[in-house]
Amino acid sequence: MKQEQKKSQEGLSVKKEENFSEWYTQLILKAELADYTSVSGCMVFKPTAWQIWEKIRDEVDKKLKKMGVKNVYFPMFIPESLLKKERHKFKKSLIITETIFSMDGDRPSLKEIVSLKEKYNSMIMVDEAHATGIFGENGSGVVEEENLTGNIDLIMGTFSKALGSFGAYLACSNRVKEYLINICRSFIYSTALPPSVIAANLVSLDLVRDEPFRRKTLLENANYLRQELQKHGFRVKGTSQIIPLIIGDSQKAIKLSENLKKNGYYVLPIRPPTVPAGEARLRFSLTWQHSKNILEKLVDDICRIYDI
Ligand SMILES: Cc1ncc(COP(=O)(O)O)c(C=O)c1O
Repeated sequence: MKQEQKKSQEGLSVKKEENFSEWYTQLILKAELADYTSVSGCMVFKPTAWQIWEKIRDEVDKKLKKMGVKNVYFPMFIPESLLKKERHKFKKSLIITETIFSMDGDRPSLKEIVSLKEKYNSMIMVDEAHATGIFGENGSGVVEEENLTGNIDLIMGTFSKALGSFGAYLACSNRVKEYLINICRSFIYSTALPPSVIAANLVSLDLVRDEPFRRKTLLENANYLRQELQKHGFRVKGTSQIIPLIIGDSQKAIKLSENLKKNGYYVLPIRPPTVPAGEARLRFSLTWQHSKNILEKLVDDICRIYDI
């Protein structure tokens, strides 16, 4: 690994490889993340990304219950009419969205959400779990790609998907970071990520930033698979490395998944209630190593076994 001098958020100079103690590695990782996401306050979590969500949901739940609001529901899509109708009832508002939707592989219009944030005086939190390591010039995600870093209040990502490791991060203002350090039980009451994992996370960030060919190839190949499936009359969704092949009927999706497994493909069927009724699907999640040759054969195999 390169010997590199980094300035940590705490203002200390830290040398990579100098000392992989927990404290040092955390400092380096936070400095790298701040550099990477262009956001000053980065936290590193061992609890997985879901636990950050859970914490925030918990807080929102508690507040709403205190106000006597029942049946809290988290809409997947925030129509302006909802903000128009409800916003004035609340002191603060936080709009939460994924930047690549995990089941459809597509993305919301972040620019529209940013304009809603401004119009309705809200904050925005994004979950970049499926975008980190893939989109944007440095590979930090859709927020970077759309040049919206300054407009998003909380950017959450995970090391567990494209980065191939474990743990999660939140890029936010120092103020939010201080707040979360003080209220986030899952952060305080668990041990930190082990140095070996942090070292792996650091190397992943370097690889993603310095070697963009993998994510370029991945997105090209994903488009190829989507187009080939469409050419053969299949219904597909998405604009990312996640490609849902819509089957409709749950039993048929299970059967196709089993038949594909017999032919050497591991692709899971996703059924309601994870997806809407009548939209059972096979969810292909590609890596850059799924070459065009592999995908060409996959399409042939799907055509051959689809009606078995
Ligand atoms: C959108 C989204 N966010 C967060 C996570 C959780 O990531 P982690 O495994 O790091 O907790 C997932 C996991 O699949 C996910 O799909």
